[in-house]
Amino acid sequence: MDTRVVCIDPYNIDHQQLQKAGALIRDGGLVAFPTETVYGLGANGLDAYAVKRIYGAKGRPSDNPLILHISSAEELDRLVAGVPQTAVKLMDRFWPGPLTLILKKSSLVPEAVTAGLETVAIRMPSHPVAMSLIKYAGVPVAAPSANISGKPSPTRAAHVIRDLLGRVDMIIDGGDVAVGLESTVAEVIDGGVVILRPGGITPEQIREVVGDVALDPAIEGDILTGIPKAPGMKYAHYSPEADVIIIEGPPQRVVAAIDRMAKELEGRGKRVGIMATEQTGALYRHGRVISVGDREEPSTIAAGLFAALREFDALGVDVILAEGIEQKGVGLAVMNRLLKAAAYHVIKV
Ligand code: TXA
Ligand code: MG
Repeated sequence: MDTRVVCIDPYNIDHQQLQKAGALIRDGGLVAFPTETVYGLGANGLDAYAVKRIYGAKGRPSDNPLILHISSAEELDRLVAGVPQTAVKLMDRFWPGPLTLILKKSSLVPEAVTAGLETVAIRMPSHPVAMSLIKYAGVPVAAPSANISGKPSPTRAAHVIRDLLGRVDMIIDGGDVAVGLESTVAEVIDGGVVILRPGGITPEQIREVVGDVALDPAIEGDILTGIPKAPGMKYAHYSPEADVIIIEGPPQRVVAAIDRMAKELEGRGKRVGIMATEQTGALYRHGRVISVGDREEPSTIAAGLFAALREFDALGVDVILAEGIEQKGVGLAVMNRLLKAAAYHVIKV
């Protein structure tokens, strides 16, 4: 398949181009586009055939449901069976933005979107290119992250091109994304809110609006407690080619331990990548160091995490030693993704 790559400046949108991209989606095509979280791979969310093409292009298991993206609150009504007051409060506060809500679906939503579930995931992205694209498509846009299933989610167009060129109709290059991690997925049941996947909107922020919020037990690395409620959370994820090991503890001891491990591994002929932070990057004497962000600002680490994992692959390292960070604020989502990338391989020092 020929893939068209189109550049669109989010600050000076070429509406004619986006109109064409919107029509392509409406007519059953696959279009990758930037959102504020990660790049998405979009198709007409009301067209079961188009939605099935997404699974094929990504190599995604068909029991993992998709998020429908909308550009205005009015579009919500025909897609869901009802909107609890708690959900209204969350939408008022966080939409458009990186929050996905799980609600009871209407009969209009094809089974291909929800993988047979009675609920549907809905999100209104804040990225101006995503917003306009959905508007021009005139339909809800089903979109998972625009990566080959199992790979780190794409945070820049080059990642999408690497994974999906030749497999989709169009890739829209809108520059680097802002958040860098997928949206927070939250289910609203009987007025209670349960976070199924942590993301850019933190539990603390949600608590401020609705008073109380629970975390799905599968989130905190507790893989033995059962089946996660977001089907996607059970799959191997974010896996670079290299083995990832997380080292947790007080920063000074973490640095010392990683440097020692890197030296030892290099002595055995291994190529070692070190995922460090701005505070620690200069302290290492071994390994290929990438400083992903500021330890005190987990959102900066979120923004650089997936690109760093892909860069280590490009460098051809055998092992990635990653500093753990505090699971507070966006740090919870960062560690959730990192733990999956590491298949829960953690060393505490
Ligand atoms: O930020 C994002 O959410 C990005 C951008 C493109 O919007 N999209 C994204 O989609 O991350 P995806 O398909 O990679 O992840 C969707 C997650 C999966 O874990 C899936 O299992 C869960 O949402 N999900 C979708 N529908 C669900 C439902 N009805 N009930 C529970 N979980 C659901
Ligand atoms: Mg994904």
